[in-house]
Amino acid sequence: MMVEKIRYFEKPGRDNTDETVKLAIERAVARGIKHVVFASSTGYTARKMLEYSQGKDLNLVCVTYHTGFYEEGKNSLDAETENFLRNSGVTVVRQSHILSGLERSISRKLGGASRTEAIAEALRSLFGHGMKVCVEIAIMAADSGAIPIEEVVAVGGRGRGADTAVILRPAHMNTFFNMEIKEIICMPRNKR
Ligand SMILES: Cc1cc2nc3c(=O)[nH]c(=O)nc-3n(C[C@H](O)[C@H](O)[C@H](O)COP(=O)(O)O)c2cc1C
Repeated sequence: MMVEKIRYFEKPGRDNTDETVKLAIERAVARGIKHVVFASSTGYTARKMLEYSQGKDLNLVCVTYHTGFYEEGKNSLDAETENFLRNSGVTVVRQSHILSGLERSISRKLGGASRTEAIAEALRSLFGHGMKVCVEIAIMAADSGAIPIEEVVAVGGRGRGADTAVILRPAHMNTFFNMEIKEIICMPRNKR
């Protein structure tokens, strides 16, 4: 048996970023976990990760929006920030979003929703957007070879910044149900 603390934020969103990042790094170090994977669209959370992990031996993996998420051919992370992150030792992962995929185009055009989108919505509604993001970016990072299939810390948020952190064992997109969420480090208590 194991007893551990969970931080519950009153509301989701960016205001929880500092606390989430701090707790995520602390837990990774406490558990001897090497890989910390997090979502960052503009680099805001990524910079916080670098700040709070100074002097710690961690593999930081930043998963960002796929090219064209907002605008055809454009990246959400500007080139200067991306270079800074890479030069600071952060691995940047940019690939198709696994929990929407090609199905997103079909749903938009023809209506309805895919089974994949139903999984995404279940995670968002029950646990909050941040938890859905933790699950999604762990698969994306694993499928890019940026993290191994062993316990990692994953961090996500609601739109901007971070508000949820977990320890999970990732899976690849073709073995999704092998994923296990081991520990919740923090999350918003109210999701909406
Ligand atoms: C692949 C991916 C999927 C995301 N999906 C969602 C989502 O479904 N809902 C949501 O509120 N935010 C979503 N986000 C936003 C992240 O959770 C996070 O808040 C954001 O990337 C932080 O960016 P920043 O560091 O530039 O503030 C997603 C981000 C990425 C990279």
